[in-house]
Formats: sequence, C-alpha cells, structure tokens
Amino acid sequence: MDRRHFLRTGLAGLSLPALVACGSDGSNTGNTANPGNPGNPVTPSETVDQMLNPAGAFPWGVSSGDPTAEAVILWTALSPRNTNIDQIPVMLEYVLLEEPLADMTEWNSKFQEGPINRLGEFTAFRDRDYTVKVDLGNQALYSNSRFMQGQIPELTGNQALLYRFVAGSQKSRIGHAKTLPSGEVESVKFATLSCSNYPAGLFSVYEMVRREPLDFVVHLGDYLYEGGGGGTELSRNGVARTPNPQKEMVTREDYVLRHQQYKADPELQALHATHPMIAVWDDHEITNDAYKDGAENHQPEEGDYQERKATAIRTYYNWMPLRERFPRDENTLAPDPREVIYRDFQVGDLCSLIMLDTRIVGRDKQAEIMAVDPDRFNPDRQLLGFEQRRWLSDRMFEAKQRNSIWTVLGQQVMFGQLNILEAPQVELLDQKLLGNLVSINMDQWDGYVAERNRVFNLIKDIGIENLVVLTGDIHTSWAIELYENPIALIGGNQLQRSLGVEIVTPSVTSSGFPDEVADLVSTLLPLLNPHIKYSELKTKGFALIEMQREQMNVTWKYAQSITDESLIGVENEAMRKSFTVQRGSNRFDGALPINIPIPSSPF
Ligand SMILES: [Fe+2]
Repeated sequence: MDRRHFLRTGLAGLSLPALVACGSDGSNTGNTANPGNPGNPVTPSETVDQMLNPAGAFPWGVSSGDPTAEAVILWTALSPRNTNIDQIPVMLEYVLLEEPLADMTEWNSKFQEGPINRLGEFTAFRDRDYTVKVDLGNQALYSNSRFMQGQIPELTGNQALLYRFVAGSQKSRIGHAKTLPSGEVESVKFATLSCSNYPAGLFSVYEMVRREPLDFVVHLGDYLYEGGGGGTELSRNGVARTPNPQKEMVTREDYVLRHQQYKADPELQALHATHPMIAVWDDHEITNDAYKDGAENHQPEEGDYQERKATAIRTYYNWMPLRERFPRDENTLAPDPREVIYRDFQVGDLCSLIMLDTRIVGRDKQAEIMAVDPDRFNPDRQLLGFEQRRWLSDRMFEAKQRNSIWTVLGQQVMFGQLNILEAPQVELLDQKLLGNLVSINMDQWDGYVAERNRVFNLIKDIGIENLVVLTGDIHTSWAIELYENPIALIGGNQLQRSLGVEIVTPSVTSSGFPDEVADLVSTLLPLLNPHIKYSELKTKGFALIEMQREQMNVTWKYAQSITDESLIGVENEAMRKSFTVQRGSNRFDGALPINIPIPSSPF
C-alpha cells in the first residue's frame, strides 16, 4: 500500500503505527487466523522473510508500557535485511492469563497452551526505526482501520497477558504485561528507577527489579546517556560496555544506535519483557542539564539545539513504550509538536499517578552557579511552565474529586529543600566543591523557589492530603518530608504541617558522590535539614513502593555489585532500608536524625 495513502486512511486520528483492519467497514472479524479480504491479504511469510535480517529480526526484544485499567502499550523493533526497505508488516500474538506470571521460565509453555489470539498486520516503518507499538485494548486505536485479523480484546483491570510479535517466519521473545488494578484497590506495588548509564556498570539493579512481583515500574529518567567516552573496562557476555557510537550522540543516527545498544542489554531487555514501564525523560535522553531552550552539554558546533532536542524526542518516542496522543507527521513520522510527555494514570480509587516533565517542556535556564544568585528566587522563572502547571492543577483537582487516597507526582529533580546554600560554613569549602554543590541545587527545585512555592500552594489550595513525590536524577537515596519552611523546624516550630513525602531513588549505575566530598560536608547538614530523614550516597539500587489504603511501605534495596557479572541481580540485604508512611501523616515512621553528606558531581 502506498504509505501516504495508508497513513491518511489507517492512521487518521491515531498516534501509533496503525492496525490494518480486515473488514471493509473496519469491524472486528473474529479470532481467526486470516478471515480474509481479497484486497488486503496478510503478507505472505516468504515475502516478509525477504525483508528481515536473517540473523534475527528482533534483537531489541519487546516491551510494554503506559498501562491503564483497559489497555497497555506493546512494543517491538525489527531489524531489516537492509535499510532500503521502507516498511515491514508484523503481527501480534497474545495469550490472556488468569493471573500474573512473573516467572519467565513458564512463559513458553503457557503461551503454547493458548488460546493464542492473533492481531495484525501492523507496519514497522523505516522512518520510525522499524519500531511498532500496539495499544492493546484501546478501541480508539482501531477506528478507521482498513484491514484486521483477530479480535480486539476488551481488557479489564489487573489483566495479565503474554505476547510476542511475528514477522514472516521469525518470532520475537515472549513478553509479559498487565493492566492496572481498577475499582476498589487494596494495594499496588511498583519500583522507581533512574540514571542507568551503560558504561558505568552492569544493569544488576534492573535484574533485581525484574525479580520483584510488581504492577509496573516507573523510570524517572536518564534511561540512557549521551556521552561518548568509555572510561570503563567492563564487559557483559564479552561485549565491552563502551558507548555506541563512541562519540556523544548528536545526530539522529547516533540517538538510534544508542537506544539500540541499551535495548540489547540482557538485563534491561528482560526487565522490559516482564513489567510494564511508565517512563519520563530527564536531561541525558537529550543532553546534560537540558532545559527548554538549551543545555549545558550542547555547543554551537553541534548544530541547532531545538533540532537536536526534536531528534532526541522523536527517537525516544520511537524506542520507548509510551502512549502517543497525536498522529505523526505524514512525511517524517516525527511526533506532533503538540505531543508532551506529562500524563497521568489512575490506579482505581487508591492512587492518582501524575507524571511530570521538569526538564524539557517548560524549564527556564538554570541560575548561575553562585550560591547567592538571587535568580533562584525570581518569581518569573519556571520549571514546569504555565501550560503544564495548569494541567497539573487540573489533575490534582481530579484526584481530589475522585477521593484518590494517594496523589503521586512522578518527576525528575529533587523537590525538597537541600539547605546547604544557607549554611554559614559554606565559605569554608573550596571553590570547586562549592561550584558542584551549587550547580546541583540550581538544577533542582531549589533553583526555582517560586515555582516550588506555586506547587506547595496548589497542594494546600486543593487540599491534597497524601502527596508522594517520586524523584530520580541525583544518583542517591533520600527520604524527605515536605515542609514549606523546614528551617523553622529547627527553632522548635512544630506547628508546621508536612505537606507530603518525597522518595528519591538511587541510580541504576551512574556514579554518586566521591568519598572525600561526602565526608567533608557530612557534618554540615543535619542541623539545617531536619526534614531529611534518610540518605544513602554511594550504593546503586531502587525504591520499592507498596501503596495500601491505610499506609505506604517504602523500601530502598541495593545491589551487591554493578561490576561483578556473577552478582547480577543479587541484593545487599544488610543495606535494605524501610519506612512506613501512615495515611494522613505525611511523615516517615521510625525516622531518626542522621548525618547527611552532600552530592558533588554533575548529574
Ligand atoms: Fe543521571
């Protein structure tokens, strides 16, 4: 089919490579292998095989994402025989399960038991890097489709399934996915992740998360890094963990190659195959310390920043299992300019999960790295931007009206105050350290004080009672209670109410805090940060969160090693740290005052 014609007819109103439907009226045609439409037959296997890389058509596995109670995105990418091929037809097979089946050793036999549902054909376009997404269960996706075989499922809450993609005679690995719980929900369990720098270590943490029974995982950004330097002699299965390409990713080809490298990692691929992911980008998906109109790590000789940002975003949308709201540009298949990554999810009556973009869509440039730069208090400076803030306000109102027990903001940079800047002893630190400390703060909400106050006001005005902020970016673990003025707690002002809690997840591999820096300032902070209840600055891991109706349990889990291949997926159990947050308290139960060292390197 002519691609332009196909896009007009098959993708009208759709955001994803379209399902081609089998009835002339676009109606469902039942669960049969090929109910037949003489004008639009399924492409013969031999024809498709000619288009595929004979060494393997699915080297980047499968993934699922953006689950709702009725739908879930299923994703794969095809490897073509050569890149002259414009498009490749692919089909989906899936088996509905009675309950989740996290143990992947059982997937193959369970899949064969069936019954296997078949859906397709879909089209993997070159201009989308031969990636394909299917929004399984989303009826709207299939409107205007012209060809289809198979039954569109009506998925319900907590529906687990196995799936795989088929192109010609080649099949992808099997993946496992599930929809969100719905209705009156007793509990939901998820992990938060961030900062997985491929050359910095093995993805042992991803394997730890894969083994957890979860409803989904939340990736808070820095899923991949733009840097080209190796700096490591690590290898995995004999494959060196040097970045591909071995240069900073700048061009479209660079970004695609880098995404492919990450998706070829065994641990990341297995994680994607096991749990749906809800992902947002931070800066490194584009380049370091990105903001709306520029980035620290973008130089004029690297071309136009807006073009680079658009390239990074386009590639990210192709390679991540995100739901897309707008149809692609017909000629380039680039995302619609109206497309934004902030979006929300409803877990029955238990939790409203609101995912934010504090990085790309509305952020003004970071303040200068001087501790006393008054710009950090400038009321005109924004981190979310007006549009997103209005959207956030609407979502918080909705959460309140629904009586969601927990309102969760998934976002990138530390929200709570890190009161190093006001420390009188800060002048004792050498300039290098001072610069590092301040730059970190300027990139966080501390550098956008007025914007943080606007969010505090939203929480108070709307009356959000159990707020949880999920954070990544800083490569370390923190438990923070959110007060408008935590310094006042020092003076014994116990009347101030905590407005929420923040859970900062450590990195998967990215480096944290040099020992000497941590030691130098570890005595400086505790008195100035009574709201920070826990921190761990050196070890890689993740935060495991179980929300129930009357309490939330948070556990930080840490990897034994990110360099020893024999310890992949092994937890350092002695380091495990847990807190409970009672409904209505916005406090971490059992928290004690601690020494809090300070971060140093750029993140
Ligand atoms: Fe990072």
